Amino acid sequence: MERTFAIIKPDAFAAGNAGKILARIYAEGFKVVGIKKLYMSKVEAEGFYYVHKERPFFGELTDFMSSCIVMTLEAEGAILKWRDLMGATNPAEAAEGTMRKEFGTSIGENATHGSDAPETAAFEIPYFFSGLELL
Ligand code: RTP
Ligand code: MG
Repeated sequence: MERTFAIIKPDAFAAGNAGKILARIYAEGFKVVGIKKLYMSKVEAEGFYYVHKERPFFGELTDFMSSCIVMTLEAEGAILKWRDLMGATNPAEAAEGTMRKEFGTSIGENATHGSDAPETAAFEIPYFFSGLELL
């Protein structure tokens, strides 16, 4: 079994789509190991997205990441499985039935986040969850 880190981003949370996204997560067979709502501060968002700190959209992205639902998901091949369910970064290019196609509105406001590799998940999960929150 593999674990990945997922976020329901502020656009999807504010639009009332968190329940629908969570329903799909369960329907696709993920176990939700950890889940919580939080308000990400600018500093927390900058730390989370540090790999993008030189990118032109860094300021916009770290301003945007406020009210979120953060999750740790478990499944066979959870990292790729969740990336597939999310779809392409740009909702306009995302496949039918994916979270970003259904709920994203722009490349910046694209409904969900998912770890892109095992090393990323190993950084992202403990960034938001303690061991005791994942029992
Ligand atoms: P994520 O990390 O959120 O799962 O998304 P991703 O791997 O598909 O895309 P990544 O390249 O890691 O970009 C992280 C997030 O930055 C925002 N972004 N905005 N305005 C832009 O051109 C732009 N490009 C990326 C998106 O919210 C993207 O999910
Ligand atoms: Mg990424």
